[in-house]
Amino acid sequence: MTDRHLLRHLWGALLLCLASTIYAQEYPTRPITMVMPYAPGGPGDTITRVFAAAMQKHLGQQIVVDNPAGASGTIGTVKVARAKPDGYTLLMIHVSHATNLSMFKSLPYHPVDDFEPIGRATSGPMVVVARNEFPAKDLPEFVAYLRANQAKVSLAHAGVGSASHLCGLMMMSALGVKLNEIPYKGTGPALNDLMGGQVDVLCDQTSGTVPSVKAGKIKAYAAVGPSRLPSLPNVPASAEAGITGLDISISFGLYAPKGTPRPVVEKLTSALQKSVADPEVRNRLESMGISAVSTELATPQALAAHLKGEIDTLGGLLLKAGVKAN
Ligand code: MLT
Repeated sequence: MTDRHLLRHLWGALLLCLASTIYAQEYPTRPITMVMPYAPGGPGDTITRVFAAAMQKHLGQQIVVDNPAGASGTIGTVKVARAKPDGYTLLMIHVSHATNLSMFKSLPYHPVDDFEPIGRATSGPMVVVARNEFPAKDLPEFVAYLRANQAKVSLAHAGVGSASHLCGLMMMSALGVKLNEIPYKGTGPALNDLMGGQVDVLCDQTSGTVPSVKAGKIKAYAAVGPSRLPSLPNVPASAEAGITGLDISISFGLYAPKGTPRPVVEKLTSALQKSVADPEVRNRLESMGISAVSTELATPQALAAHLKGEIDTLGGLLLKAGVKAN
């Protein structure tokens, strides 16, 4: 390569570097879209709106939540995978970012290769709830009723590989029952049917259920896992009834499309870290039984490690349960 060519290449690289630096310094200059791939009104939507409201304060631009729901969250997720990597389209998602890799033979994106992790946002427990007229006065009676009437009991969830589906699978396996699964585009619509009595049982995140339980619109039979929840102190833990093998907590994380400029990712991570440290955010989440992560976990490295762990563990659990989406 002649000196002239080398000089031209160096000059080009310098301009490119300068342009991306100026771009990042000015970012964001217009509203950002935060995609939540489950229906409005569910636990994911609730958590997404808390962070959209908090992060827009730190970024100085409006963040609009968009819910292209369906197909176990893959419709919204692929929208972000295919978006311009300019920092204006983000994805807030949880365990289904990992499980969909095992569930779908022909997934139109790869959860790791097609995304830039921004950072983890929350973690939170799940609770088994039912319609108010469900004929069981407590957890032992609930378990006995499921075992005696399993095929007649409907179990709502947000599609294969979703948190509510995973919890439902674990519950059916732990109790040795097979319930009649009813999939929804999110547990927001599922909760409406539960309150209306059209569906019987749901295992959902507390951010979707605690307000309805406290308002007496549905009833809670078990906090999933070894211990009771501060948000629902009178609800027994599933372990109290001797139910083993039922324990799952759900974490949400924020992603951008692969190729988003590093300085833009850093700006988004910084806004996420300020949000998880914001007492208003922490209190709002705690009122729903959810915890914001520490600032050390609101980082790309922590989210990448968490996603790898879920891909390695939960995908195998679903395959063992013989679950496939297509
Ligand atoms: C799920 O995985 O069950 C979803 O988070 C439900 C939702 O957010 O609507």
